[in-house]
Amino acid sequence: MIKKGNLYFPTKEFKKRALIKSAAIYKTAAKNPIKFWEKLAKELLWQKKWKKVFSHRPPYFKWFVGGKLNITENCLERNLEKRKNKVAFIWEPEPIAAPNGRASPSKTGREERERYFTYYDLYREVNKLANALKKLGVKKGDRVGIYLPMIPEAIISMLACARIGAIHTVVFSAFSPQALRIRLQDTTAKILITADGYYRKGKIINLKQNADKGVKSTKVKKVIVVKRAKNEIPWQRKRDLWWSDLIKNEKEFCKPAAMDSEDTLFILYTSGSTGKPKGIVHTTGGYMVQANFTGKWIFDLKEDDIFWSMADVGWITGHTYSCYGPLLTGTTFLIFEGAPDWPTPDRWCKIIEKYGVTTFYTAPTAIRMFEKYGIKLLKRYTFNTLQILGSVGEPIDTAAWQWYFKEVGREKCPIVDTWWQTETGGILITSLPGIGPFKPAFTGLPFPGLRVNILDEKGKSLPVHKEGNLVILPPFAPGLLRGVYKNPKKYLETYWSQYGKRIYFTSDTAYRDKNGLIRIVGRVDDVIKVAGHRLTTGELESAIAKHPDITESAVVGIPDEIKGEVPVAFVVSHKKRKAETIAKEVREQVRKEIGPIALPKKVYLVEDIPKTRSGKIMRRILKRLFTKEKLGDLSTLANPESVKKIKEVIVK
Ligand code: PRX
Repeated sequence: MIKKGNLYFPTKEFKKRALIKSAAIYKTAAKNPIKFWEKLAKELLWQKKWKKVFSHRPPYFKWFVGGKLNITENCLERNLEKRKNKVAFIWEPEPIAAPNGRASPSKTGREERERYFTYYDLYREVNKLANALKKLGVKKGDRVGIYLPMIPEAIISMLACARIGAIHTVVFSAFSPQALRIRLQDTTAKILITADGYYRKGKIINLKQNADKGVKSTKVKKVIVVKRAKNEIPWQRKRDLWWSDLIKNEKEFCKPAAMDSEDTLFILYTSGSTGKPKGIVHTTGGYMVQANFTGKWIFDLKEDDIFWSMADVGWITGHTYSCYGPLLTGTTFLIFEGAPDWPTPDRWCKIIEKYGVTTFYTAPTAIRMFEKYGIKLLKRYTFNTLQILGSVGEPIDTAAWQWYFKEVGREKCPIVDTWWQTETGGILITSLPGIGPFKPAFTGLPFPGLRVNILDEKGKSLPVHKEGNLVILPPFAPGLLRGVYKNPKKYLETYWSQYGKRIYFTSDTAYRDKNGLIRIVGRVDDVIKVAGHRLTTGELESAIAKHPDITESAVVGIPDEIKGEVPVAFVVSHKKRKAETIAKEVREQVRKEIGPIALPKKVYLVEDIPKTRSGKIMRRILKRLFTKEKLGDLSTLANPESVKKIKEVIVK
């Protein structure tokens, strides 16, 4: 990389190999974004061409109107022509024999083998499961729940649903049964695909047990179970089916359903401001085009690349860049079952070297964790296959950026700091690797054709260096959400109210530098990003409210060295309870309602929570108790004395 001032640019050699190397693309796309996306869409396989590229009835819009397609034909058939026996993806299991004795063995005590799926293998597996799902009565438009860890069957399940036009809704495997239940209830899924168990840091997690609890009081009639960890599991003879039995005699071809471009491909839930998560709806045609081209251009995916995105399929990053994106582009990618620092802190390095990973995509929280283990560990690795590094999920600070750039990328890899959201379906802001520029802590330039702006509260466009609300302007991008499942009000309120129905409000604040590079500052709503995972304070508070002894609670996100932010909770109890006991119970309550990722770092039992005279909880003040910021004027509070008392509890 070449450094000019505080900017970095790709070298001549890098540029030579890059798919997109001329900045002219930005000009062409900006002239007519609709035409630009249309040209791109033509490179993919459509059963029937669209009649209109973009239609807009604010706050609703459509892309490739009237077009028919099946995304799996693009992920599979399209690749069979040229890449039938090319590896589509490699699966790396967690269990491995560790040299230092801290082994993470499988149940048999042996190291496990990786698995390779060629495009042809994947095609057959997807078709078999698609046929089996059809036999179980799954029809186009039906919702199917997927509660699987990072194993090949997760990818196969998503594609099998898409093959027959069923809508998949993937639930992160570390979510609690209660979190699973809410999602299954909201989608009224009749089928759930899960596994017996999986490995996490050497332990077997009994996923089936959680799935059984989660399907209670839902419409789920059949539970398909992948045999993964061979752990003992409960079984309901009439309801449960082994995956292997189900597909055994199925044919290796299933006719791909003709999907309208605007038919729903999947629903993925993200935290809502209340206890209830929002089902983000993504449709087929637009999502496909965006997943394909953002994947291809941002990660510069070429025929011989090995792409490893560390994200789990339970999140949007896993959907777009550990499944659809790389498959659409015919890339070989990697999925990994375990934790990157298990059984040794350099497991992730070993994986990079083992497969010669060329493109590595992770989150700042992981980068900070790697950094903490120390660079001595990295000296053993050359990382000479790496060409591009990616970051996603939260702002990456300059120190972590520099560490990643120097110690992992060895100063030769561009860092694509990719900004996007569950709602945007694919990456929307980042500089392209063959063009640049890259600047630590700045996410970069909007993707070609994307119109964004930074506005003040009144909707006035802000000049360079002024922080404001990041918005997206029409025609947006083809993959942007089309709705909140069964909740049009929420769709309107959350995204299209702040500045009217024609401007998408991201809920992020940002500013631009003089080069037009964007720096994301943070969220304006109650979202907290814990190790890159999106949670809301409201969601945690409503989980805590279910504790019978708690009258009131307030959750805030406070800075954390590794995780970026962590939740802490303040609780008021109407009973005389011991602080330690109640803290333990509250944490347990959160684990039960949401899952271990949401566990508050600290739970403080307090007498009162600071509120305004109108009864609004002042989370801002609670947050400032943990940062160096001044508390500000407390006289507007109804109960200013509560702050002093809380301070005393915190110091204890
Ligand atoms: O605040 C932004 C932050 O993550 C939010 C979206 O979270 P989620 O829907 O979970 O999707 C994460 C993965 C796409 C955004 O509103 N965010 C995401 N990427 C970045 C980021 N903040 C700063 N820099 C990024 N690269």
